[in-house]
Amino acid sequence: MYTSVSLSEQAERGSQAHHRGHFSFHSSSSLFHLISSLSTYEAHFLTLQLWNMSEKSNIAQLPLAALFGAGVAVLIDRFVIQRTSPSKRKSTPPHPHWKPSQAQPPPFKPKWHDIDSESLPSSVLYPLMITAVVPRPIALLSTTNSSGVGNLAPYSYFNVVAHDPPHVVIGCCTSNLRPHGKKDSLYNILDTGEFVVNIISEWFAEAANHCCGNFEYGENEMQLSGLTPLSSTKVQPPRVAESAVHLECRLVHTYEVKNSNRNDTTTTTTIVIGKVVMIHIAEDISARSPSGKIIVDSEKLLPISRLGGNTYGRTREMFDLPRPDRTATATGDGTGNTMIYTSSAT
Ligand SMILES: Cc1cc2nc3c(=O)[nH]c(=O)nc-3n(C[C@H](O)[C@H](O)[C@H](O)COP(=O)(O)O)c2cc1C
Repeated sequence: MYTSVSLSEQAERGSQAHHRGHFSFHSSSSLFHLISSLSTYEAHFLTLQLWNMSEKSNIAQLPLAALFGAGVAVLIDRFVIQRTSPSKRKSTPPHPHWKPSQAQPPPFKPKWHDIDSESLPSSVLYPLMITAVVPRPIALLSTTNSSGVGNLAPYSYFNVVAHDPPHVVIGCCTSNLRPHGKKDSLYNILDTGEFVVNIISEWFAEAANHCCGNFEYGENEMQLSGLTPLSSTKVQPPRVAESAVHLECRLVHTYEVKNSNRNDTTTTTTIVIGKVVMIHIAEDISARSPSGKIIVDSEKLLPISRLGGNTYGRTREMFDLPRPDRTATATGDGTGNTMIYTSSAT
């Protein structure tokens, strides 16, 4: 599943990252972050290569010594710290000593762009909205048409909007690039009434992203990206084996978004509402709530989100804030967070 990466490729990645201003080779923490962005196999491979080089020359005199040190640190972090302390990514809230009614001033001046969205064209609204509402979760949507031909594509106009029974919502923008005017996922959902939401994790981000290519209808992105199909239980479209959470869904409703204020009756987006009829969670990524209910372990899921443009976000650092009216004393578990798992809480 992992590809081995040569030292020259690593160096190229490093220089690209340097060019983007994300890392500086002069700082050990940025080297750590650079190597952290590699898979465990790649980090292991790189560190071993550097160790082999040290046997042939005096690595202490090479700038690569710092890279080797960062590689060792990443491997210790992955194999020792992260495995022995599952809550390593939980950090303190931004203002741990904040008290109710205490001011929390924003870091910007009170001067606003007041934008009448009803007067703006799509080309202006799109970059604005996808940068304003962030981070968005991403559904990797698996669909098939009635002849069984598969399709896979990422959608970040996506969320869970009800849990009893669970419902999800997806926004499929109209595409003039498709012969039938609809994106392939929407075409298939309308054809069969079924789809599977696969949650994307860091470990297959690149393959999932590959599925957004404008491929011909009938070309299966599952094969093109190298992802692995896994049979679903109640619906025809397959799940993605690399994904740790799958939601098998049936279509319940569509709503066509039109720009009537511009006297335009064409559909710009079709909002799909689906009922989740089957849930699959990889056992290794699951956990138990304090009251023993099955949940997904956010720290193990490593979910990615969509920000603006081509930018994705990692979900690496979390913090807990108890609800003001639901204290640790009230729930009795000592964490103050138990109540989020009750049926009425959202
Ligand atoms: C992370 C990500 C999120 C996306 N979200 C959406 C979305 O919510 N709605 C949409 O219409 N297109 C979205 N796209 C673009 C589609 O994935 C792209 O148009 C794709 O070709 C659609 O594939 P399909 O025609 O096979 O359904 C997104 C692309 C990426 C990379």
